[in-house]
Amino acid sequence: MYVCICNALKDRQIKANAEDAKSVGEVFRRCGTRPQCGKCLPDIAKMIEDARGCAHACLAAE
Ligand code: FES
Repeated sequence: MYVCICNALKDRQIKANAEDAKSVGEVFRRCGTRPQCGKCLPDIAKMIEDARGCAHACLAAE
């Protein structure tokens, strides 16, 4: 599923680059793109947050 239409970035690609990312801008840089219209920024921020939450939850479960 496309998350960023402007850059044709799919959710899988963003999730793979969201892990350990410090900002939305960092995710774009890792994908080799830049934000354009900005509509996807809240969704990508949420994906970074979810990736962090999973890392904490996964470590807590071990
Ligand atoms: S949809 Fe991502 S920058 Fe436009």
